[in-house]
Amino acid sequence: IEADASWRAEVLELARQRDAVILAHNYQLPEIQDIAHHTGDSLALSRIAAASDASTIIFCGVHFMAETAKILAPEKTVLIPDERAGCSLADSITGAELRAWKAEHPGAVVVSYVNTTAEVKAETDICCTSSNAVDVVASIPADREVLFLPDQFLGAHVKRETGRENLHIWAGECHVHAGINGPELAARAAEDPEADLFIHPECGCATSALYLAGEGIVPANQVRILSTGDMITAARGTTAKSVLVATEVGMLHQLRKAAPEIDFRAVNDRASCRYMKMITPTALLRCLRENKDEVHVDLETAKRAQASVQRMIEIGK
Ligand code: 13P
Ligand code: SF4
Repeated sequence: IEADASWRAEVLELARQRDAVILAHNYQLPEIQDIAHHTGDSLALSRIAAASDASTIIFCGVHFMAETAKILAPEKTVLIPDERAGCSLADSITGAELRAWKAEHPGAVVVSYVNTTAEVKAETDICCTSSNAVDVVASIPADREVLFLPDQFLGAHVKRETGRENLHIWAGECHVHAGINGPELAARAAEDPEADLFIHPECGCATSALYLAGEGIVPANQVRILSTGDMITAARGTTAKSVLVATEVGMLHQLRKAAPEIDFRAVNDRASCRYMKMITPTALLRCLRENKDEVHVDLETAKRAQASVQRMIEIGK
């Protein structure tokens, strides 16, 4: 199906008829982002899902995001256009693995990135996203041990920012972001020394970027470690003429809309998440026509996960 005017009209009419709000993550295909009622990062979309008065949420993103919406709004129908849209990072730790890790560190506070399954969230004290991970960890008394999972690069960023020695980090990674590496970033920055660098903390190159700044190879004020939503705010605030973007390539669409005069370029233009791209115009229309795929979280798991997700949406900007 093409994302043409008749597709748009049908999607919006079906959404209206079934009292549905369409949410799209910043990594979605441009045509999906453009038709959504709201686009945003994981934290913003969770907050919108929790506050919305629509009876149905159509979540154009990956499965854990739709699950998080269901945990926050159990009385609502939550649909995802393709339930096979998983996440390699969320798959890097299971509930059983987390229980075993907790047993090795009794009394530790468990902080899980939102990119986790509902089962892992049910074993978690506080969830976080890339935009509030530092604030969440900073809110924990300094003498408490912290288990941070599952992303090692975001974990390293939080450890650097908070200066916490008692933070243990799970060795998971997102295959898309881990593939955006330091040498690639350094080469692109050398080609355009005036460019700002917007780097998602899940990237393998986040540490290298700070190294480049520390060595004076790139001016420190040009290096920003940001969630996808914060990249949009930063784009509106910068005076740079060009920006190198280290994250999933879907992000470029919102950035270009927010600041059309800036030349945004991907550090790695192969950094595309195949799960995010499963949400096609065809899948979205099928979702609305057939009320599929519905996201379910069993009640007991949802109840246990809810407190940690609720803390996440309350902490930070
Ligand atoms: P944010 O939108 O919270 O920055 O997360 C990025 C991501 O990788 C989601 O899969
Ligand atoms: Fe998961 Fe990575 Fe895709 Fe984000 S980009 S949904 S972390 S696999």
